[in-house]
Amino acid sequence: MYYFRNDLKNKKVVNIDVPNKKIKMGLNESSLDPFEVVKDEFLEKMKNVQLNRYFNNITKTLIAQLSEYTKVKPECLTFGNGADEMLYYLFNSVRNDNNSFAVSLAPSYFDYKRYSEAVGLGIKFLSLNSDFDFSVEEYLELCDDENCKLCILCNPNNPTGNLLDESKIIEILERSKRLVLIDETYFEFSGKTFADRIYEYPNLVIVRSFSKSFSVAGLRFGYIISHPENIRELEKVMTIFHLNLMTQTMISTMLEKKKIFLEHNRKIIENKKDIFKQLSTIEEIHVHPSATNFLSFSAGDKTEDLFNFLIQNDIAIRAVWHHPVLANHVRVTISNAEHNSAFIKNVKRFMEER
Ligand SMILES: Cc1ncc(COP(=O)(O)O)c(C=O)c1O
Repeated sequence: MYYFRNDLKNKKVVNIDVPNKKIKMGLNESSLDPFEVVKDEFLEKMKNVQLNRYFNNITKTLIAQLSEYTKVKPECLTFGNGADEMLYYLFNSVRNDNNSFAVSLAPSYFDYKRYSEAVGLGIKFLSLNSDFDFSVEEYLELCDDENCKLCILCNPNNPTGNLLDESKIIEILERSKRLVLIDETYFEFSGKTFADRIYEYPNLVIVRSFSKSFSVAGLRFGYIISHPENIRELEKVMTIFHLNLMTQTMISTMLEKKKIFLEHNRKIIENKKDIFKQLSTIEEIHVHPSATNFLSFSAGDKTEDLFNFLIQNDIAIRAVWHHPVLANHVRVTISNAEHNSAFIKNVKRFMEER
């Protein structure tokens, strides 16, 4: 007897295959400890947040702050436990029946497939070419099907790191006749957003995260920006009170001190330029420009050995070589000066010795 959805029967249990090492440069996390930055103000604020109650004014305050930060009206926003949860809700809200599917470029964020399949939404992929670019015509062809419910564009794209061509995104928004999701998880590093176009394009949905640029991957906070009518439909599939009041209070405090986090991002961008330069000088390494807080690079057929060598030296980066476009590629998250220099030192040591 099988008690669950038929399509779950042959699905594998989710397994995060990231080595846990002292120097963590594999998951695009921030090296800044947010609690250290806000703890006094956070604890003070918590005096007015009773956790025995469902409601608190902090929710209204947070929406107002987020509205100021994103420069969109409060009714254009909804938030939850990380961009992942928002994706999950969005996929759930667009799935119509067993034939429904989404379209994404590939390689892109690994978990689009995981969450779409978790809610029974199929997913089709169009491969990027070797310049990490794509054909709009081919993309639109995949979307030109009544069962296509969502076009996904990750901008800048993870794991390639590049921004997609703006005119191509606009063409998809204008011609696809579908809901178009732009994943702006790395917005604070790219500086590029479509948030000011949600009224111009009522089919546009943007997802963002606090995990990278506000250093709270472990706290879980993400949000969606869209036309109020889309927000209303999306909220129909969300559980009520899903984002706990303590997280809301912490995020509200962080937004009061946002300058510290945004300044940290500026440093990360500077560090990225430095690592890019250093990797570029190593013969046999090819590194790609990136509008994010990570770099993807290849050491040709030495890549896997380099990856293992770094692990042996307590440095975890991410293997992203599973898609042919990124054959022999790894991805490194830019971190603080100490971690970055340990990374570069070990990469140089490995390349010199082999
Ligand atoms: C492109 C992209 N979207 C979404 C997420 C999920 O972010 P969160 O931690 O807010 O769930 C990530 C995390 O790595 C990501 O890279």
